[in-house]
Amino acid sequence: TSESVDLVQKIENLKKERNAIILAHNYQIDEVQAIADYTGDSLGLSQKAADIVDAEVIVFCGVDFMAESAAILSPHKTVLLPEQNAGCPMAAMITAEELIMKKKEYPNATVVCYVNSSAEVKAESDICCTSSNAVDIVESLDSDQILFVPDENLGHYVSQRTDKDVVLWEGRCITHHRVKADDFEKVKEAHPKAPIIVHPECRPEVLSAADYVGSTSQILKFANESEADKIIVGTEMGILYRLNNENPDKTFYILNQGLVCKNMKMTSLQHVADALENMQYKVTVDKNIRVKAKEALDRMLEFSK
Ligand code: 13P
Ligand code: SF4
Repeated sequence: TSESVDLVQKIENLKKERNAIILAHNYQIDEVQAIADYTGDSLGLSQKAADIVDAEVIVFCGVDFMAESAAILSPHKTVLLPEQNAGCPMAAMITAEELIMKKKEYPNATVVCYVNSSAEVKAESDICCTSSNAVDIVESLDSDQILFVPDENLGHYVSQRTDKDVVLWEGRCITHHRVKADDFEKVKEAHPKAPIIVHPECRPEVLSAADYVGSTSQILKFANESEADKIIVGTEMGILYRLNNENPDKTFYILNQGLVCKNMKMTSLQHVADALENMQYKVTVDKNIRVKAKEALDRMLEFSK
């Protein structure tokens, strides 16, 4: 519509005026992904946020923990989260206080914290990971015991790929947890030859029945390189935007129609324009927390260089 063309133009103008860059997660709505300077998975977005030199403002289209990580990694930039209420329910499933208690139970464990967590939880952790490097990070650690928070499904997936003792936390993504093993039967019947590729936040029985497990960017890479002309995808539907754009000859099917993350869908073009116009909503992290959380994030980035 002409309204959205105007809005896109307004965003372009404001972006120049503010010397801003727009980062968007692979689950954002199509229009937002279309105007982003960079779209990626959690790891790619953190790497990008840490490396930005030529912009003063980062508009982060995603959920709060992602913008918070950008603010931790780039403390001299202004980081804006266009929709203040975009949070991650999984990140809210553990507090720093709860983690401190758990650490007392496992004093010798190394704490590996999935980036889907608050800055306070990161500050109490030894190293962060994302879904794309979790197994390799756990394997790289000296310790034989790992306390893995907060995603139980990703932690379980890691535990099956290492000899280390992985202590799990009962957190999960309510969106990915909706996928059930039954969903495979229906979809396999309709498309028997199509590979099924899923995100490691899905249940263990879903992961073991899938042909490939990876982060959102790893899913994109797998699909781009695949010879298959039909592919079934078990992650949030926003991924379809790039899957379809980058693979016009392939057809993608979503494993379960419930794969929609309400929080990832909150940010609109209007929010992005308002963010740039009013410089809202600024994401900041207290210095005490920031310095400690940055150590955990930096260890991950150093490992994943
Ligand atoms: P990725 O790091 O794979 O992009 O995942 C982020 C996320 O929130 C998955 O639900
Ligand atoms: Fe959090 Fe799940 Fe949404 Fe990702 S998809 S932001 S893990 S609720």
